[in-house]
Amino acid sequence: MKPRILVTRRFFPELITRLEAYFDVDDHASDEGLPPAALKTRLADKAGVLLSVADPMPAEIIAAAPHLRAVCNVGVGYNNIDVAACTRAGIMVTNTPDVLTETTADLAWALLMSVARRLPMAERWLRDGQWGAWRYDLWLGTDVHHATLGIIGMGRIGQALARRAAGFGMKTIYHNRSRLPAAIEAQHQATWADKETLLREADFVVLLLPYSPAVHHYIGAAELGLMKPTAHLVNVARGGIVDDAALISALREHRLRGAGVDVFEGEPHFNPDFLTLDNVVLTPHIGSASYQARMAMGMRAVDNLIAALTGQRPRDCVNPEVLLSQ
Ligand code: 8YV
Repeated sequence: MKPRILVTRRFFPELITRLEAYFDVDDHASDEGLPPAALKTRLADKAGVLLSVADPMPAEIIAAAPHLRAVCNVGVGYNNIDVAACTRAGIMVTNTPDVLTETTADLAWALLMSVARRLPMAERWLRDGQWGAWRYDLWLGTDVHHATLGIIGMGRIGQALARRAAGFGMKTIYHNRSRLPAAIEAQHQATWADKETLLREADFVVLLLPYSPAVHHYIGAAELGLMKPTAHLVNVARGGIVDDAALISALREHRLRGAGVDVFEGEPHFNPDFLTLDNVVLTPHIGSASYQARMAMGMRAVDNLIAALTGQRPRDCVNPEVLLSQ
């Protein structure tokens, strides 16, 4: 008999076809996701689950799944999963690093460029039929080239962003809990700075750190107050890292020139006051949303699930202590 697994929402059919070769698949196949009670019922007899970062997997649900051995996220971030609870229960947790690095850096770069040069606002204005005459100061933006970029969270995606910045002649500073080796700094033409210095000096602050409760509201009113009034903030990391209400106030009062926001507190619901601002570019959590990246992420998660349930070591286990204890 094949092991039973749950797929919590609609992914590409190619993933399901591969999974069906190994497993008896309960495919929810909906964009709505499963409410907690339904998730508990559907997981009760499952050995594995393929899920997305939009599917919360708290301790309470893990406790209701006595046969569960693998929780495989389609996403590099996995703050939707209570990893400690999984580890205690001997359940492997996996994510999908690497395959979305360049795609997410592209989106961060696109948001930075869009807000700096005010592309969506200018386009809306043009579409509204408002372009009547040439004007010397029509839709003036801010230069990106040769400006100072401040990256908070200099992991894989942060480093990919620094490589893009080098092509624009930018000065790159970064902040990380730990400083990178000198050779990596040299390769990315990036210099470490403490958080306060980075916020004070950067023209563009881009957030690329993983979410954990320790970084909840890592950027709030005080931090926004350190930034230059001509600076821009870009958040492609996770909702909750920025205090969205504080960001909205700073943008409304022009204490900050602009922001690019791909992730929101409480998404897909978000603070409606964002919509009243004309100095922010908003996208619906699409950092990794290219066909190629999403396919690669899905396949990587499928590989992890197959490995975990066929006695192999999954490539991307985030709690390897579970493997050691087996
Ligand atoms: C996706 C992400 O939106 O990987 C992550 O952590 O936030 C994004 O790539 C998400 O993973 C889709 O499930």
